[in-house]
Amino acid sequence: MKVLVAGGAGYIGSHICVELLQANHEVIVIDDFSNSKPEVLGYIKDITGKDVKFYEKKTEQVFIENEIDAVIHCAAFKAVGESVEKPIEYYTNNLTTTLIVAKMMKKYHVNNIVFSSSATVYGDPEVVPLTEDCKLGETTNPYGASKAMMERILTDVQHACPDMSVTLLRYFNPIGAHESGLLGEDPKGIPNNLMPYIMKVAAGELPCLGVFGDDYDTPDGTGVRDYIHVVDLAKGHVLAIEKYNKPGLHICNLGTGRGYSVLELVHAFERVNGVKVKYEIKPRRAGDIATCYADPTRAKEELGWVATRGIDEMCRDTWNFAKTRMK
Ligand code: UD1
Repeated sequence: MKVLVAGGAGYIGSHICVELLQANHEVIVIDDFSNSKPEVLGYIKDITGKDVKFYEKKTEQVFIENEIDAVIHCAAFKAVGESVEKPIEYYTNNLTTTLIVAKMMKKYHVNNIVFSSSATVYGDPEVVPLTEDCKLGETTNPYGASKAMMERILTDVQHACPDMSVTLLRYFNPIGAHESGLLGEDPKGIPNNLMPYIMKVAAGELPCLGVFGDDYDTPDGTGVRDYIHVVDLAKGHVLAIEKYNKPGLHICNLGTGRGYSVLELVHAFERVNGVKVKYEIKPRRAGDIATCYADPTRAKEELGWVATRGIDEMCRDTWNFAKTRMK
Protein backbone atom coordinates (compact mmCIF):
# COMPACT_ATOMS: atom_id res chain seq x y z
CA MET A 1 0.00 0.00 0.00
CA LYS A 2 0.96 3.62 -0.40
CA VAL A 3 0.80 5.01 3.13
CA LEU A 4 0.95 8.64 4.23
CA VAL A 5 2.45 9.02 7.71
CA ALA A 6 1.54 12.43 9.12
CA GLY A 7 4.16 13.18 11.77
CA GLY A 8 6.47 10.56 10.28
CA ALA A 9 9.70 12.18 11.50
CA GLY A 10 8.61 12.05 15.14
CA TYR A 11 9.45 9.49 17.78
CA ILE A 12 6.62 7.09 17.06
CA GLY A 13 6.13 8.08 13.40
CA SER A 14 9.74 7.31 12.47
CA HIS A 15 9.51 3.80 13.91
CA ILE A 16 6.25 3.29 12.01
CA CYS A 17 7.98 4.33 8.74
CA VAL A 18 10.70 1.72 9.30
CA GLU A 19 8.20 -1.09 9.90
CA LEU A 20 6.07 -0.06 6.91
CA LEU A 21 9.08 -0.02 4.58
CA GLN A 22 10.26 -3.36 5.91
CA ALA A 23 6.80 -4.77 5.19
CA ASN A 24 7.17 -3.50 1.60
CA HIS A 25 4.74 -0.62 1.79
CA GLU A 26 5.51 2.70 0.10
CA VAL A 27 5.82 5.57 2.57
CA ILE A 28 5.12 9.26 2.21
CA VAL A 29 5.93 11.46 5.19
CA ILE A 30 4.57 14.86 6.05
CA ASP A 31 6.11 16.63 9.02
CA ASP A 32 6.77 20.23 10.01
CA PHE A 33 9.71 19.28 12.28
CA SER A 34 8.09 21.15 15.19
CA ASN A 35 9.23 18.34 17.48
CA SER A 36 11.56 16.32 15.25
CA LYS A 37 14.64 16.63 13.10
CA PRO A 38 15.20 16.24 9.34
CA GLU A 39 18.12 13.83 9.97
CA VAL A 40 15.58 11.24 11.04
CA LEU A 41 14.58 10.69 7.41
CA GLY A 42 18.20 9.76 6.63
CA TYR A 43 18.28 7.34 9.57
CA ILE A 44 15.14 5.63 8.26
CA LYS A 45 16.99 5.09 4.99
CA ASP A 46 20.12 3.85 6.81
CA ILE A 47 18.03 1.21 8.57
CA THR A 48 15.83 0.08 5.70
CA GLY A 49 17.85 0.94 2.58
CA LYS A 50 14.70 2.61 1.26
CA ASP A 51 13.63 6.21 0.74
CA VAL A 52 10.48 7.83 1.99
CA LYS A 53 8.92 10.58 -0.07
CA PHE A 54 8.87 13.72 2.03
CA TYR A 55 6.70 16.85 2.21
CA GLU A 56 7.24 19.57 4.80
CA LYS A 57 3.89 21.29 4.30
CA LYS A 58 1.30 21.54 1.52
CA THR A 59 -1.01 18.76 2.63
CA GLU A 60 -3.27 19.06 -0.39
CA GLN A 61 -0.27 18.67 -2.72
CA VAL A 62 0.50 15.35 -1.07
CA PHE A 63 -2.95 14.05 -1.91
CA ILE A 64 -2.89 15.45 -5.46
CA GLU A 65 0.51 14.01 -6.33
CA ASN A 66 0.14 10.57 -4.74
CA GLU A 67 -2.49 7.89 -4.92
CA ILE A 68 -2.63 7.30 -1.21
CA ASP A 69 -4.24 4.12 0.09
CA ALA A 70 -4.05 4.78 3.81
CA VAL A 71 -3.11 7.47 6.31
CA ILE A 72 -1.44 6.97 9.66
CA HIS A 73 -2.03 10.15 11.62
CA CYS A 74 0.44 10.73 14.40
CA ALA A 75 1.07 14.45 13.93
CA ALA A 76 0.26 16.17 17.22
CA PHE A 77 1.70 18.16 20.09
CA LYS A 78 2.06 15.79 23.03
CA ALA A 79 3.58 17.41 26.10
CA VAL A 80 1.04 17.27 28.89
CA GLY A 81 2.51 20.09 31.02
CA GLU A 82 2.99 22.41 28.07
CA SER A 83 -0.61 21.80 27.00
CA VAL A 84 -1.79 23.24 30.31
CA GLU A 85 0.26 26.41 29.65
CA LYS A 86 -0.67 26.65 25.97
CA PRO A 87 -4.20 25.27 25.52
CA ILE A 88 -4.97 27.44 22.50
CA GLU A 89 -1.89 26.21 20.62
CA TYR A 90 -2.62 22.59 21.56
CA TYR A 91 -6.26 22.61 20.55
CA THR A 92 -5.53 24.58 17.39
CA ASN A 93 -2.69 22.36 16.24
CA ASN A 94 -4.09 18.98 17.18
CA LEU A 95 -7.68 19.53 16.09
CA THR A 96 -6.91 21.50 12.92
CA THR A 97 -4.39 18.94 11.71
CA THR A 98 -6.95 16.17 12.21
CA LEU A 99 -9.67 18.12 10.43
CA ILE A 100 -7.41 18.91 7.47
CA VAL A 101 -6.34 15.26 7.15
CA ALA A 102 -9.99 14.14 7.29
CA LYS A 103 -11.05 16.78 4.76
CA MET A 104 -8.31 15.78 2.30
CA MET A 105 -9.13 12.10 2.71
CA LYS A 106 -12.76 12.78 1.88
CA LYS A 107 -11.90 15.02 -1.09
CA TYR A 108 -9.42 12.55 -2.58
CA HIS A 109 -11.34 9.39 -1.68
CA VAL A 110 -8.82 7.90 0.72
CA ASN A 111 -10.76 5.54 2.93
CA ASN A 112 -8.40 4.14 5.52
CA ILE A 113 -7.03 6.04 8.52
CA VAL A 114 -5.20 4.84 11.60
CA PHE A 115 -5.10 7.40 14.40
CA SER A 116 -2.58 7.63 17.25
CA SER A 117 -4.77 7.79 20.30
CA SER A 118 -3.85 7.29 23.91
CA ALA A 119 -4.94 5.40 26.99
CA THR A 120 -5.35 8.86 28.48
CA VAL A 121 -8.89 8.85 26.99
CA TYR A 122 -9.90 6.29 29.66
CA GLY A 123 -9.17 8.83 32.44
CA ASP A 124 -8.77 7.39 35.93
CA PRO A 125 -9.77 3.75 35.35
CA GLU A 126 -12.43 2.17 37.56
CA VAL A 127 -10.97 -1.25 36.84
CA VAL A 128 -7.80 -2.59 35.27
CA PRO A 129 -6.91 -4.09 32.89
CA LEU A 130 -8.58 -1.66 30.51
CA THR A 131 -10.58 -3.11 27.64
CA GLU A 132 -11.73 -1.04 24.68
CA ASP A 133 -15.28 -1.24 26.07
CA CYS A 134 -14.36 0.55 29.30
CA LYS A 135 -16.09 3.85 29.49
CA LEU A 136 -14.12 6.92 28.58
CA GLY A 137 -13.12 9.09 31.51
CA GLU A 138 -12.35 12.68 32.39
CA THR A 139 -9.16 13.90 30.79
CA THR A 140 -7.03 16.05 33.08
CA ASN A 141 -5.23 18.32 30.61
CA PRO A 142 -5.68 19.90 27.15
CA TYR A 143 -3.41 17.31 25.51
CA GLY A 144 -5.59 14.47 26.77
CA ALA A 145 -8.78 16.37 25.96
CA SER A 146 -7.51 16.97 22.43
CA LYS A 147 -6.95 13.20 21.98
CA ALA A 148 -10.51 12.51 23.13
CA MET A 149 -11.82 15.20 20.78
CA MET A 150 -9.82 13.86 17.84
CA GLU A 151 -11.26 10.41 18.49
CA ARG A 152 -14.72 11.98 18.46
CA ILE A 153 -14.09 13.89 15.23
CA LEU A 154 -12.89 10.77 13.42
CA THR A 155 -15.76 8.70 14.83
CA ASP A 156 -18.26 11.24 13.48
CA VAL A 157 -16.46 11.28 10.13
CA GLN A 158 -16.75 7.49 9.93
CA HIS A 159 -20.47 7.66 10.68
CA ALA A 160 -20.94 10.23 7.93
CA CYS A 161 -18.77 8.25 5.48
CA PRO A 162 -19.65 4.59 6.14
CA ASP A 163 -17.23 3.35 3.47
CA MET A 164 -14.35 4.58 5.57
CA SER A 165 -12.16 2.52 7.83
CA VAL A 166 -11.31 4.55 10.93
CA THR A 167 -8.99 2.91 13.44
CA LEU A 168 -8.30 4.41 16.85
CA LEU A 169 -5.19 2.86 18.36
CA ARG A 170 -4.98 3.60 22.06
CA TYR A 171 -1.35 3.53 23.06
CA PHE A 172 -0.32 2.80 26.61
CA ASN A 173 3.20 4.05 27.50
CA PRO A 174 5.54 3.78 24.50
CA ILE A 175 9.22 3.73 25.45
CA GLY A 176 12.42 2.23 24.04
CA ALA A 177 14.14 2.91 20.76
CA HIS A 178 15.16 1.25 17.53
CA GLU A 179 17.80 -1.42 18.14
CA SER A 180 20.13 0.34 15.67
CA GLY A 181 20.40 3.22 18.14
CA LEU A 182 19.49 5.65 15.35
CA LEU A 183 15.87 6.37 16.27
CA GLY A 184 14.49 7.15 19.69
CA GLU A 185 12.99 9.81 21.89
CA ASP A 186 15.15 12.80 22.61
CA PRO A 187 13.02 15.58 24.05
CA LYS A 188 14.49 19.05 24.22
CA GLY A 189 15.08 20.34 27.76
CA ILE A 190 13.64 18.64 30.80
CA PRO A 191 11.56 15.59 29.86
CA ASN A 192 8.00 15.16 31.11
CA ASN A 193 7.92 11.41 30.73
CA LEU A 194 9.64 8.86 32.89
CA MET A 195 11.90 6.96 30.48
CA PRO A 196 13.55 9.98 28.81
CA TYR A 197 14.15 11.36 32.30
CA ILE A 198 15.79 8.12 33.44
CA MET A 199 17.92 8.16 30.28
CA LYS A 200 19.14 11.71 30.94
CA VAL A 201 19.95 11.01 34.59
CA ALA A 202 21.91 7.88 33.63
CA ALA A 203 23.77 9.93 31.00
CA GLY A 204 24.69 12.56 33.58
CA GLU A 205 22.69 15.28 31.85
CA LEU A 206 20.29 15.65 34.77
CA PRO A 207 21.29 15.14 38.41
CA CYS A 208 18.42 13.15 39.86
CA LEU A 209 15.06 11.63 38.95
CA GLY A 210 12.08 12.77 41.01
CA VAL A 211 9.74 9.84 41.68
CA PHE A 212 6.29 11.39 41.85
CA GLY A 213 4.73 9.77 44.90
CA ASP A 214 5.39 6.55 46.82
CA ASP A 215 2.05 6.37 48.60
CA TYR A 216 -0.17 5.06 45.81
CA ASP A 217 -2.16 1.90 46.32
CA THR A 218 0.37 -0.19 44.36
CA PRO A 219 2.83 -2.89 45.53
CA ASP A 220 5.71 -0.45 46.13
CA GLY A 221 3.64 2.74 46.35
CA THR A 222 4.85 4.20 43.02
CA GLY A 223 2.71 4.55 39.88
CA VAL A 224 2.18 1.50 37.68
CA ARG A 225 2.04 1.77 33.87
CA ASP A 226 1.95 -0.53 30.86
CA TYR A 227 5.23 0.28 29.08
CA ILE A 228 5.32 -0.87 25.46
CA HIS A 229 8.36 -1.03 23.20
CA VAL A 230 8.03 1.52 20.39
CA VAL A 231 8.97 -1.10 17.77
CA ASP A 232 6.13 -3.38 18.92
CA LEU A 233 3.84 -0.36 18.79
CA ALA A 234 4.99 0.45 15.24
CA LYS A 235 4.37 -3.14 14.10
CA GLY A 236 0.82 -2.80 15.44
CA HIS A 237 0.23 0.04 12.96
CA VAL A 238 1.33 -2.02 9.99
CA LEU A 239 -1.12 -4.75 10.99
CA ALA A 240 -3.84 -2.16 11.60
CA ILE A 241 -3.63 -0.64 8.11
CA GLU A 242 -3.66 -4.12 6.60
CA LYS A 243 -6.24 -5.92 8.74
CA TYR A 244 -8.64 -3.08 9.55
CA ASN A 245 -8.79 -2.09 5.88
CA LYS A 246 -12.55 -2.60 5.81
CA PRO A 247 -15.37 -0.14 6.43
CA GLY A 248 -16.11 0.58 10.06
CA LEU A 249 -14.86 2.09 13.29
CA HIS A 250 -12.12 -0.04 14.83
CA ILE A 251 -10.81 0.64 18.31
CA CYS A 252 -7.83 -1.21 19.67
CA ASN A 253 -5.52 -0.95 22.67
CA LEU A 254 -1.80 -1.35 22.12
CA GLY A 255 -0.20 -2.39 25.39
CA THR A 256 1.50 -5.44 26.83
CA GLY A 257 -1.07 -6.24 29.50
CA ARG A 258 1.50 -5.98 32.25
CA GLY A 259 2.22 -3.04 34.53
CA TYR A 260 5.54 -1.96 36.01
CA SER A 261 6.04 0.56 38.79
CA VAL A 262 8.33 3.58 38.52
CA LEU A 263 10.87 1.92 40.80
CA GLU A 264 10.69 -1.37 38.91
CA LEU A 265 11.53 0.48 35.70
CA VAL A 266 14.38 2.39 37.37
CA HIS A 267 15.86 -0.80 38.79
CA ALA A 268 15.47 -2.69 35.51
CA PHE A 269 17.30 0.12 33.71
CA GLU A 270 20.16 -0.05 36.24
CA ARG A 271 20.39 -3.84 36.09
CA VAL A 272 20.21 -4.22 32.30
CA ASN A 273 22.62 -1.40 31.50
CA GLY A 274 24.98 -1.55 34.48
CA VAL A 275 24.40 2.12 35.30
CA LYS A 276 23.19 4.06 38.32
CA VAL A 277 20.03 6.15 38.23
CA LYS A 278 19.89 8.47 41.21
CA TYR A 279 16.37 9.20 42.39
CA GLU A 280 14.47 10.81 45.23
CA ILE A 281 10.85 10.54 46.24
CA LYS A 282 8.85 13.68 45.49
CA PRO A 283 5.18 14.58 46.01
CA ARG A 284 2.58 13.18 43.64
CA ARG A 285 2.23 14.92 40.27
CA ALA A 286 -1.16 16.55 39.71
CA GLY A 287 -3.42 14.56 37.38
CA ASP A 288 -1.53 11.26 37.82
CA ILE A 289 -3.33 8.00 38.44
CA ALA A 290 -2.11 5.00 40.45
CA THR A 291 -2.35 2.15 37.97
CA CYS A 292 -3.03 1.81 34.26
CA TYR A 293 -2.51 -1.20 32.06
CA ALA A 294 -4.16 -2.71 29.02
CA ASP A 295 -6.15 -5.77 28.26
CA PRO A 296 -4.50 -6.49 24.88
CA THR A 297 -6.86 -9.35 23.92
CA ARG A 298 -8.51 -7.53 21.05
CA ALA A 299 -5.18 -6.70 19.39
CA LYS A 300 -4.29 -10.37 19.53
CA GLU A 301 -7.64 -11.59 18.23
CA GLU A 302 -8.26 -9.00 15.53
CA LEU A 303 -4.74 -8.05 14.43
CA GLY A 304 -2.73 -11.10 15.43
CA TRP A 305 -0.54 -8.67 17.38
CA VAL A 306 1.24 -9.29 20.65
CA ALA A 307 4.06 -7.32 22.22
CA THR A 308 7.20 -9.42 22.01
CA ARG A 309 9.74 -7.06 23.58
CA GLY A 310 9.91 -6.95 27.35
CA ILE A 311 11.09 -4.40 29.86
CA ASP A 312 14.74 -5.47 29.50
CA GLU A 313 14.77 -4.74 25.76
CA MET A 314 13.01 -1.43 26.37
CA CYS A 315 15.76 -0.42 28.81
CA ARG A 316 18.60 -1.78 26.68
CA ASP A 317 17.45 -0.07 23.47
CA THR A 318 16.86 3.25 25.22
CA TRP A 319 20.38 3.24 26.61
CA ASN A 320 21.85 2.16 23.28
CA PHE A 321 20.07 5.12 21.66
CA ALA A 322 21.37 7.46 24.40
CA LYS A 323 24.93 6.30 23.82
CA THR A 324 24.65 6.62 20.02
CA ARG A 325 23.30 10.15 20.31
CA MET A 326 26.11 11.17 22.71
CA LYS A 327 28.81 10.13 20.24
C1 UD1 B 1 1.64 10.69 30.27
C2 UD1 B 1 0.37 11.43 30.06
C3 UD1 B 1 -0.42 10.75 28.98
C4 UD1 B 1 0.41 10.62 27.72
C5 UD1 B 1 1.71 9.88 28.04
C6 UD1 B 1 2.65 9.79 26.84
C7 UD1 B 1 -0.22 12.40 32.27
C8 UD1 B 1 -1.21 12.43 33.37
N1 UD1 B 1 -0.43 11.51 31.29
O1 UD1 B 1 1.34 9.40 30.76
O2 UD1 B 1 -1.56 11.51 28.71
O3 UD1 B 1 -0.30 9.92 26.71
O4 UD1 B 1 2.39 10.57 29.08
O5 UD1 B 1 3.15 11.04 26.51
O6 UD1 B 1 0.72 13.15 32.26
N2 UD1 B 1 7.09 9.76 36.75
C9 UD1 B 1 7.98 10.06 37.76
N3 UD1 B 1 8.95 10.98 37.52
C10 UD1 B 1 9.07 11.65 36.33
C11 UD1 B 1 8.15 11.35 35.30
C12 UD1 B 1 7.16 10.41 35.54
O7 UD1 B 1 7.91 9.48 38.85
O8 UD1 B 1 9.97 12.50 36.20
C13 UD1 B 1 6.06 8.73 36.98
C14 UD1 B 1 4.62 9.21 36.84
O9 UD1 B 1 4.15 9.71 38.07
C15 UD1 B 1 3.92 7.92 36.38
C16 UD1 B 1 4.99 7.20 35.56
O10 UD1 B 1 6.23 7.75 35.98
O11 UD1 B 1 3.59 7.13 37.49
C17 UD1 B 1 4.85 7.40 34.06
O12 UD1 B 1 4.80 8.78 33.78
P1 UD1 B 1 4.87 9.34 32.28
O13 UD1 B 1 6.02 8.72 31.57
O14 UD1 B 1 4.83 10.83 32.34
O15 UD1 B 1 3.56 8.78 31.60
P2 UD1 B 1 2.00 8.89 32.07
O16 UD1 B 1 1.84 9.90 33.13
O17 UD1 B 1 1.50 7.53 32.31
